[in-house]
Amino acid sequence: MQLRLIRLPLVAFFETSFGRVYDKTFILVSLEGDGAQGLGECVAENDPYYSAETKQADFARMQAALNDIPKGSIVLLHACCHNPTGADLDEQQWRTLAGLVKSRGLLPFFDIAYQGFGEGLEEDAFALRHFAEQGIPLLVASSFSKNFSLYGERCGSLSIVCADTREADTVLGQLQATIRRNYSSPPAHGGRIVSAVLESDELRTAWTNELTAMRVRIKAMREGLHAALKSRKPGHDFDYVLKQKGMFSFTGLSVEQVTRLREEFAVYLVGSGRLCMAALTEATIAPSADAIAQVLD
Ligand SMILES: Cc1ncc(COP(=O)(O)O)c(C=O)c1O
Repeated sequence: MQLRLIRLPLVAFFETSFGRVYDKTFILVSLEGDGAQGLGECVAENDPYYSAETKQADFARMQAALNDIPKGSIVLLHACCHNPTGADLDEQQWRTLAGLVKSRGLLPFFDIAYQGFGEGLEEDAFALRHFAEQGIPLLVASSFSKNFSLYGERCGSLSIVCADTREADTVLGQLQATIRRNYSSPPAHGGRIVSAVLESDELRTAWTNELTAMRVRIKAMREGLHAALKSRKPGHDFDYVLKQKGMFSFTGLSVEQVTRLREEFAVYLVGSGRLCMAALTEATIAPSADAIAQVLD
């Protein structure tokens, strides 16, 4: 089984903060954001998270991989709307994973960049809440780029759930030292927008409603594309379009098919076959489905 291992400078931070022996390895179980463009092929073939056959998470393989890595490893997990595959774990799988993580002393580092785009703000945070309830120390990197439309501000937050107050004090001290050495003082504009929205009942309600509208629209695009593809290629299974969550769908189209889509039909997917559901509109569903059906022939 092939795992991609990466080392990040945060290792020193973890060692001094948590005072436990966490292995110095980050296991890249889920792929990071735009890196997906370059790593798409790896996802399909080697990622111990994804099954290219079912276009869903391969939970058995993921569990085997997590049982295989050194105890105390830090595991990067996408809490919802997995990028690039759109393949998420269900609640029961997250529960099982929490037990495995706890028993093996792994440290989960949750990346939640699409909260609100899957099933809802609360629902998409299920894994984080469940792990915290189980008393598992965890880190959460939240991004507000998408759900607050603040992409240009690169705005997000890091939350760390610690075992007790003493550990939290140590972690905070280490974080402050790390921040001082890195960026010292963060840009304030995006953070102030997020605070203003979350602290006002009226603005928070307006934001939640707008986020719901975006989520519902993306789901409507999924349904539209699924129906359009099915009507053009009745023999093909396109159910993955409906099952995958969030902004992206991993289509399984090859680099050659993606190139044909671009050059012959002006339909743009990234080379890995990742399709952006959020970019579809009612007007572009039919021509996109026509093009996809043709390259599948
Ligand atoms: C899973 C995931 N995490 C993080 C990011 C980046 O977040 P930010 O815009 O806050 O840097 C992205 C996409 O840009 C992403 O897809």
